[in-house]
Amino acid sequence: MRRAAGDERVVNLAGGLPAVAQFPRAALAKGFLRVLAARGSPGLQYGWPEGQPSLRARIADRLRQRAPAARLTADDVIITNGAQQAIALAVQLLARRGDRIAVEPACYPAALELFRDRGLDLIDLSDGQARARVTYVMPALGNPTGTALDRAARARLLARPGWIIEDDAYGDLTFDEVVPPLLAERRRRIVYVGTFSKTLCPGLRVGWIVVPPALRERALRLKQSEDLQAGSLAQSVVDDYLAHHDFDARLIAHRRYYLHRARRLARAIHHALPAFRFEFPHGGFCLWVETPEPVDEVALLHAAVAEGVCYDVGSAFQTDPARQALTRMRLCYSAEAPDRFDEGARRLARAWRRVQRQNCEQTTLLVEDR
Ligand SMILES: Cc1ncc(COP(=O)(O)O)c(C=O)c1O
Repeated sequence: MRRAAGDERVVNLAGGLPAVAQFPRAALAKGFLRVLAARGSPGLQYGWPEGQPSLRARIADRLRQRAPAARLTADDVIITNGAQQAIALAVQLLARRGDRIAVEPACYPAALELFRDRGLDLIDLSDGQARARVTYVMPALGNPTGTALDRAARARLLARPGWIIEDDAYGDLTFDEVVPPLLAERRRRIVYVGTFSKTLCPGLRVGWIVVPPALRERALRLKQSEDLQAGSLAQSVVDDYLAHHDFDARLIAHRRYYLHRARRLARAIHHALPAFRFEFPHGGFCLWVETPEPVDEVALLHAAVAEGVCYDVGSAFQTDPARQALTRMRLCYSAEAPDRFDEGARRLARAWRRVQRQNCEQTTLLVEDR
């Protein structure tokens, strides 16, 4: 996949990267210079582990708009090096080796890897009976499913005992109504994770965590022993960007931009692979697709790369792919040029037919052997 990702001839539907064209390069460059030129700017100096007050206040303001009941202030926000570090801190705070963590049946793979590395026992959230010390969810918008938890699922989730890690990485990128975070409803049990990676750019690595007040001191100690603080320069640049630009207008434009791409890729897949099934996403960067019959996903990916198209295999997102009846794949519309979607879908269709033929031949051989 790495080789394919670096090859311009390959239509790349893998990776879940934001569109390069959406990075506000000129605005960030101006901000960068402003930050460096300002006398007394915190951008080149050490800071406190919780991060810069002005940036934290802006994040708290934005969160208060979406979750007024949580009554957050700058004191509640700790800046992290991306959402990934926030999830790692949350796990360190809430769980120990051997504890159970419940996750959605299709889940963000770097979180799954992190949980496995930390020795946590992964269980499926859809098994309503199974108890877990911690539940990790993306209620506003799931990666890779592109769906939000409905009212009933949110209620069931809140009724479960234990801690909740709410990953809201895509919360601002829903195509329809922006969903309020769960944080508003159970402040004391929820560790909330956010990021500018999807809405501004991932290279700056600016994310944040909001922990229940009782855990704040421990969270700060952990953050400090981990890396002292998030990078000062990146924090200052993001803070400068938010001070000089209308971020809400940016989000509206973003949603429109990605919705257009989602429609184009959905159309291309419907046309070239009418038997493939997926729900049109509520937001985010990808389609979560299932094939009409199970096939060897490694063989399918190899065939796809040979045809010149790449995507993410479904098993990377699943706790127990063996239990899943169908083969799944994540097809991202976020970063590739939309005028290559039709060609990508045609290549995928050729790969699919090739693997299906192999499947048929193998089945015939097996029957003949018997
Ligand atoms: C659901 C989810 N959470 C967290 C992250 C990590 O984001 P960050 O770049 O802020 O570390 C990602 C990145 O793809 C993601 O999809």
